[in-house]
Amino acid sequence: MRLKDKVAIVTGGAHGMGEAEARLFAREGAAVVIADRLAKEGEAVAADIAASQGRARFVQTDVTSEANWTRLIAETIATYGRLDILVNNAGISGSSVGDVDALEGWQTIMAINASSVFLGTKLAAAAMIPNGRGSIVNISSIMGFVGSADSHPGYAASKGAVRIYTKAAAAKYGPSGIRVNSVHPGYMPPMLNATNAAGRAAKIDATPLRRLGEPIEVAYGVLFLASDEASFVTGTELVIDGGYIAQ
Ligand SMILES: NC(=O)c1ccc[n+]([C@@H]2O[C@H](COP(=O)([O-])OP(=O)(O)OC[C@H]3O[C@@H](n4cnc5c(N)ncnc54)[C@H](O)[C@@H]3O)[C@@H](O)[C@H]2O)c1
Repeated sequence: MRLKDKVAIVTGGAHGMGEAEARLFAREGAAVVIADRLAKEGEAVAADIAASQGRARFVQTDVTSEANWTRLIAETIATYGRLDILVNNAGISGSSVGDVDALEGWQTIMAINASSVFLGTKLAAAAMIPNGRGSIVNISSIMGFVGSADSHPGYAASKGAVRIYTKAAAAKYGPSGIRVNSVHPGYMPPMLNATNAAGRAAKIDATPLRRLGEPIEVAYGVLFLASDEASFVTGTELVIDGGYIAQ
């Protein structure tokens, strides 16, 4: 029960890595609010957690909307009394925005992957400050460290923004007892499912551990940073990529 009595929001918790984090957090004793734009899937994950003795609810949220964030945090506190943990996990890959050279696609990726993290961190920190403690975990990517010709340039830019914004937020909110860290997953499903077989094989070949990752392997890293075990860890970067960017 590494998150006993904690209250957590996981954005993008209806699917993929966010779902793995929400389920793991609930197993570790947290009450979890799943925030996602996918209502059917998010409701189903929350119901499944509740059916196995966990505590969870779903709040439909578009993370690009400041008004949605304000409502999400207010509903979290109204339901569970406080907010201890925020995981800014919601995001999109470059393949969902089309033309890699169009400004519109760049702006869409930046809004969903980066501006959302600014909004969520700012508003969650405001709710945590009166408690004198809190943990915010921002999901970046290995693309927050390196570029790649075969992914959308806006994806790497958005994930780089998350990496450095996390350090600025750690400096700003540290004196209030709030820790802010970033996690950098390597290649894994579900996002990688959009890549063809040859692309997947090339990525496996370039990974020292010679396989793709699994969402639960990221969730365990997020759990550590979210928990009190990481009480002196802030402004840092946890890369979970099978060694892909180590070489
Ligand atoms: N899978 C990978 O290979 C990989 C690698 C590095 C980083 N990441 C990052 O991990 C995070 C999760 O990715 P995933 O692989 O689980 O993908 P996913 O597509 O399975 O999950 C993303 C979730 O975010 C939600 N979402 C998207 N836009 C939203 C919005 N505007 N408001 C609210 N919710 C929204 C989606 O509905 C979905 O449930 C993303 O930030 C992604 O960039 C993934």
